[in-house]
Amino acid sequence: MGSLRGRDLVSAADLTAAEIGGLFALAATLKAEYVADRRHAEPPLERRTLAMLFQKPSLRTRVTFEAGMTQLGGHAIYLTEGIVLGGRETVGDVARNLERFVDGIMARTGPHEVVVELAARASIPVINGLTIREHPCQALADLFTVSELVGPDLRGVPLAFVGDGNNVYHSLALMGATLGMEVRLAHPVGYGPNERIVARARELASASGGRLVFESDPRGVVEGAAIVYTDAWTSMGQEAEAEERRDAFAPYQVNRDLLAGAPDAFVMHCLPAHRGEEITNDVMDGPRSRIFEQSENRLHAQKALLVELLGGGR
Ligand code: CP
Ligand code: NVA
Repeated sequence: MGSLRGRDLVSAADLTAAEIGGLFALAATLKAEYVADRRHAEPPLERRTLAMLFQKPSLRTRVTFEAGMTQLGGHAIYLTEGIVLGGRETVGDVARNLERFVDGIMARTGPHEVVVELAARASIPVINGLTIREHPCQALADLFTVSELVGPDLRGVPLAFVGDGNNVYHSLALMGATLGMEVRLAHPVGYGPNERIVARARELASASGGRLVFESDPRGVVEGAAIVYTDAWTSMGQEAEAEERRDAFAPYQVNRDLLAGAPDAFVMHCLPAHRGEEITNDVMDGPRSRIFEQSENRLHAQKALLVELLGGGR
């Protein structure tokens, strides 16, 4: 892998298979070091600072990026309500200030275009910490988790996403397609993914030997799957639709009955979960769940990303 220094991560499609593989290898090294010692003997990001802009709530993204920077020897600054991107001042002006103060920006916004603009305007790396369209850091940590479960070569590995064709699905589809996986989706009518993302994922899959599969029946997609993945039926910003969505998605719950059709599958969820809606308690806390390992891997995978983007590798 060449250096990723100075690059942005706006979309899961921004990384090649070799770059993703390099990040997984570094994440595994950093994880082993950190799990053994709770410290890194030679922290690679000393005196580096990350600005974190949040326009939506977060537990995992905020804490894993902030703790990750501390563990790597650097520092993170949490910026929230007072810094409304494009409100108090333009997105471009925020970028032109921050690039003079810090070494990187992580941003969680509503509109995807805001992160695209930040990345275009700032001369320092910009990392997408979730937009309505994508959640690439989630996909990176998730597929790192899958690689720990099934081995480093993810070509042909079937991942069945059951539920909303949302930001988390989009990033998994793009990164999974890059890695040659078989990314399946079962969604109710009217809740499918963005067609442009699907078209891009299909291009990536045709180059890698991967495949995208769509079905309306969740039982169809989970059959033979290595991973059954779900996410909340209502994403941040869609709260007004919650009731209507609960009705539409009811047949898409990941529960014991559905998993009976996928005897070898592990279960994943990006969290936060709505227990009793998209996933039952017994599945979430059961032996096939890798949900909290997946959450832990946000820390390790993003530390690898930060070392590469802000430090130019190790
Ligand atoms: N999965 C995830 O991004 O969690 P947060 O919304 O808590 O950051
Ligand atoms: N799809 C969810 C993911 C949360 C991490 C949302 O956008 O709210």
